[in-house]
Formats: sequence, C-alpha cells, structure tokens
Amino acid sequence: MQFHERIRRELDELRALDRYRILPDISARNGKAIVVNGQSLLNLSSNDYLGLGDDKPMLAGYIKEFSATDHAMTSSSSRLLTGNHPLYDQLEQALATLYNREAALVFNSGYHANIGMLPALSGRHDLVLSDRLNHASIIDGMKIAEAPYQRFRHRDYDHLEELLAGAADRYRQIFIVTESVFSMDGDLADLAQLVALKEKYGALLIVDEAHGVGVFGKHGLGLCETTGMVQKIDIITGTFGKALASTGAYAVMNSLVREYLLNTMRSVIFTTALPPVILGWSLLTLAHQSAMARERQDLLLLAARLRHKLLERGADVPGDSHIVPVITGSNSLAVALAAKLREEGFLCMPVRPPTVPEKSARIRISLRSILQWEDIARIPELIGG
Ligand SMILES: Cc1ncc(COP(=O)(O)O)c(C=O)c1O
Repeated sequence: MQFHERIRRELDELRALDRYRILPDISARNGKAIVVNGQSLLNLSSNDYLGLGDDKPMLAGYIKEFSATDHAMTSSSSRLLTGNHPLYDQLEQALATLYNREAALVFNSGYHANIGMLPALSGRHDLVLSDRLNHASIIDGMKIAEAPYQRFRHRDYDHLEELLAGAADRYRQIFIVTESVFSMDGDLADLAQLVALKEKYGALLIVDEAHGVGVFGKHGLGLCETTGMVQKIDIITGTFGKALASTGAYAVMNSLVREYLLNTMRSVIFTTALPPVILGWSLLTLAHQSAMARERQDLLLLAARLRHKLLERGADVPGDSHIVPVITGSNSLAVALAAKLREEGFLCMPVRPPTVPEKSARIRISLRSILQWEDIARIPELIGG
C-alpha cells in the first residue's frame, strides 16, 4: 500500500513538472506523414533519416525473397548457444569491409551495445571520461561498469585534456566516450581533436555514431568517415534502428577486441540473438544506404537552410546536422510550442529533462532526406512568432 502511494505521488510530481510521459496513439506512419490521435501530421520526429523504412519496393522484394528461404522469425537462443546464423557472419563481414576494419560485432540494440561495452572492457583500475551530453545508454553503461567515471563539459576538449593530464599514470587504462552527432543537440564532436588527445595520452576512444550513420560520409559510415578518422578510432558503434531502418546495432574494432567482447560482454552473452529476418534486412539496408550520397547531401542542405532561417528569426538553435533543436528553456514553453506546431500539421516532440539538462527543454526537429523545403518552409515563421 505504501509502495502504491509513493509511486502515485511521484507520478503526480512528474505531472506538475510537465515531465509526465504517455504513449502516443499512432495509427499509421506512411512516407512523410504520421497519424497521431487520428490527425495526419508531417513527421519531424523520426530517425528514419534516409526514408528507407518506407522504401516499399525494397521491402516487397525482401519479403518475397525471405519467404522462399529458411530464415526464421526467431533465433530462439543466445548467439553463443544455438542462436547464431550465417547472416550474422555476413552482416559483420559486410560492416568490416565497408569500414575497412578488422572486425565487427552486431548487438541487439544500441542500448545493449552501450550498457555492455564499458562494463566488459573496463575494470576498477581504469577510468572512463565521457562527454556530459552523452546518451542515457552510455551513462547506464558507466553506472554498471566497475571503473570510475568523470564527465567532461560538452565538447570542451580543454577540459577533457585537463582530466586526462590529471589522471595519467594513475589508471591502468583510460577510455574516452563520445557521441559523434549528439542526439538532442544535433552538434558534432571534434573527432580529429579526440583522436589527437587519445593518442597523446594512450587512451582508448569509443565513438557512438547512432545519429551519424547514414547521414554523414560518402558511404554513410558517419562523421568518422567525413573526418577521415575511421581507422583511428578504436571502437565505432552504429545503430540499425535509425537511418538504417532496421533493428540492432554494431561496432567495428580490431579482431582481438571483438574476441574479448564475445567472451565478456554480458549484453551479448545473456540475451536471445536477433532473428534472421532482421539480420537479412539489415544487410540489405546497409548496402542500400552506402550508395545514397546524394540523399545525404540533400538532407544536410535542407537542415542548413532551416537552421539559417530559424537563427535569422532569433531562435536558439544549436548544432550543425540534420537534427535541429529549438531551445525554449522551460518545459511548459517546449510543450506549448510543440502543441502549436501540431495544430499547424507538424509533429515535433518536446524534449524535457531528464532527457536534456535542466532548463534546456526544447523541441527537436528531426529532418529526413525525403522532405523538401516546401514541406517545412512555414516552420521558422511559426516558431519565430
Ligand atoms: C546516441 C545513441 N546511442 C544509442 C542509442 C540506442 O540505440 P537503440 O535505439 O538501437 O537502442 C540511441 C537512441 O536510441 C542514441 O541516440
């Protein structure tokens, strides 16, 4: 009884703080549109950055091919028991080839990747240094890991160097962890600077490209490709659930690290493997996206134009990518702005603490290559006043 009273009170507190969450009523997602509460809206909250999730010919072809094979809808077991499948090997080989790296490992999701990797790789004699705005899954991984962690100010590499210099010689190994394209701010890590620092201090660099894959780089490998850092970053992770329009995640690394992760990473060992139907689809979308350089270029140009127009109107718009946040500060302003845009036919979700730091609530406009300027041209005017 006491328990139920407590959680009811906590839910009331969340309501009072405009932090209460409900599952949206979504009846259809189709191309640019999404139907929420029966209302058709332009979907500006999707991570399907290249529109591959809605590529009907590709999907129809896959389903036809799939139905004629022995691929199963379940793997029925952990990969290390009986859940492994030749498609896992093909997918990992395709990733290693695309990145021109020794090895790749596929995970059930980006969340699995991030909660499992640091606990597997680090121990209590090590130190993890993490960008303050890294995703919740990275933070959860740090909480699970035995290694102590410190957070450096967001993209402040002088601060990171201070921490590195202060920590050098006191730890067995230092790990630096960052996102490449920050999911809530749309701004970019300086990968060249991070590589220089990790080399100077003998640290290991892990870069989460969840929002960079498919959008940055000639072959869609992410910001590491744009900046020429693919070979220099120790571990690069990517997700299949965003621009790659599937489910799961991966990391590229050297063969020794892969072997070690397979033996120690609990979120790989103690979970049922992905079903072959998903692995085959991931193989297809991965290959497909690598040839979508023009779509990537169009998407980034569209984002630059929107950002420019919003800034002209005095909006607070950080970042430099296809993720365009408009900072409102207060939770209620973010909710009100999202509601206003929704009335006008646009779906952009308000993002509030604890997803973002206190007093930095925002709406997050997530652009996709299937959108044209005409689709979003009214937004600056609606936001600007
Ligand atoms: C930076 C980052 N890493 C990891 C994840 C988790 O990936 P997944 O959705 O595949 O669990 C997300 C978002 O979901 C993310 O934004």
